[in-house]
Amino acid sequence: MNNQAQPIELLSARRIADRLKNLAQEINQHYQGQEILLVSILDGAIIFTADLLRLLKVPTQLDCLRISSYGDSTSPESPPRITGSLKSDLQGRHVLLVDDILDTGKTMERACVEISSLNPQSLRTCVFLDKQENRTNGFEADWIGFSIPNEFVVGYGLDYAGRFRELPYLAKLQTYENT
Ligand code: IMP
Ligand code: MG
Repeated sequence: MNNQAQPIELLSARRIADRLKNLAQEINQHYQGQEILLVSILDGAIIFTADLLRLLKVPTQLDCLRISSYGDSTSPESPPRITGSLKSDLQGRHVLLVDDILDTGKTMERACVEISSLNPQSLRTCVFLDKQENRTNGFEADWIGFSIPNEFVVGYGLDYAGRFRELPYLAKLQTYENT
């Protein structure tokens, strides 16, 4: 017996691209005349970051933070751990922290604690997806691509057990048993 998972499209590549243009416009306006240090949370935010970065018109540098919150399952492990650290000096920088999805909020909270301890001039957050229903700590992002219901989603960088990141669209997984 085998558990098969079939991706069902929720947000098309076109819809994602359209939303990102507006999002980037808001971010460009906010940071006008300043420089950004964009901190991307690996691995999930990699596609969103790459697309957003290319729409930013303010000078932007990139750094990455690796935070591990899930194992090979859809349920969270105990507290998120930082497993790869930043290379930049954050002192006096305008940091824009970017993640794929805000779920319980624990990952973003952990990342914000880490970044704040490095004394940036400002810290703002941007997530591709917001799953508000699951929030345990009241964390709110400054910019959100899409709000979605409490469903496990894949594609556009998001994975299930390491799979489906390459899908150019966002999908939910329909699981069925293959006997
Ligand atoms: P949080 O710490 O519960 O907010 O979870 C955030 C992290 O969990 C994200 O950075 C994702 O990597 C992962 N995650 C949460 N929900 C999903 C989902 O529906 N699909 C794929 N990854 C998810
Ligand atoms: Mg993640």
